[in-house]
Amino acid sequence: MKISKRLQAIASYVEENSKVIDVGCDHALLDLYLVENKKNVKVIASDNKEGPLQKAKENIKKYNLEDKIEVMLADGLEKLDTKTDTIVIAGMGYLTIKEILTKGDLSHITNMIVSTNDDFDDTKAFIEKIGFSIQKEEIVEDHNKFYIIIKATKGRKKSIDIKKRNKDYQKYLEYTIIKKREILSKLPRSKIKTRFQIYKQLKKLEKELKSL
Ligand SMILES: C[S@@+](CC[C@H](N)C(=O)[O-])C[C@H]1O[C@@H](n2cnc3c(N)ncnc32)[C@H](O)[C@@H]1O
Repeated sequence: MKISKRLQAIASYVEENSKVIDVGCDHALLDLYLVENKKNVKVIASDNKEGPLQKAKENIKKYNLEDKIEVMLADGLEKLDTKTDTIVIAGMGYLTIKEILTKGDLSHITNMIVSTNDDFDDTKAFIEKIGFSIQKEEIVEDHNKFYIIIKATKGRKKSIDIKKRNKDYQKYLEYTIIKKREILSKLPRSKIKTRFQIYKQLKKLEKELKSL
């Protein structure tokens, strides 16, 4: 089964023998790939909408994996069971990720793999704030978009810093600056507060790019 470069990178961070919940599974392509390619991984494919879950069910049926993937209709982590040790949240913005993780009981979670294409610094800071440390980070370019993939484990260990390690960071910064400029140029002048926030983010990114 062929999945995107981004999903492959996410899958590479899932450990063997883990019990995973994929929050916002949509098509469940990641989950199909995980149970086919990772040893003894159990997956719950979860989404808060019927439409995506229907797609997930069709894909799971197509590959005859109904006995390996559980499908669940749930908002975020509301139905999380205590056997689950790994959370995957991918393809959502920082604010949604934050809301999902804030509402969830993470006491039995040891690993999380989070992927977003916005507000990388905020996402990272939030993950650390809730008691996880970032062990691996990667920037993946897929179809001209940049995604950050973060693997975090429970506990306060020393987090690594992608800026020092990843050669794609500069490309990611350039891409994000262009996107923020576009957003700013389209925002009505009346949206003063939002414009100011984006302007501040833009200046921070520009400064960072210059310092590389
Ligand atoms: C853009 S798709 C990402 C699909 C897949 N995770 C990926 O990365 O390719 C986002 C999915 O998250 C689901 N979603 C959004 N908010 C959610 C929430 N609070 N709880 C569960 N699923 C949610 C949406 O219904 C949608 O199917």
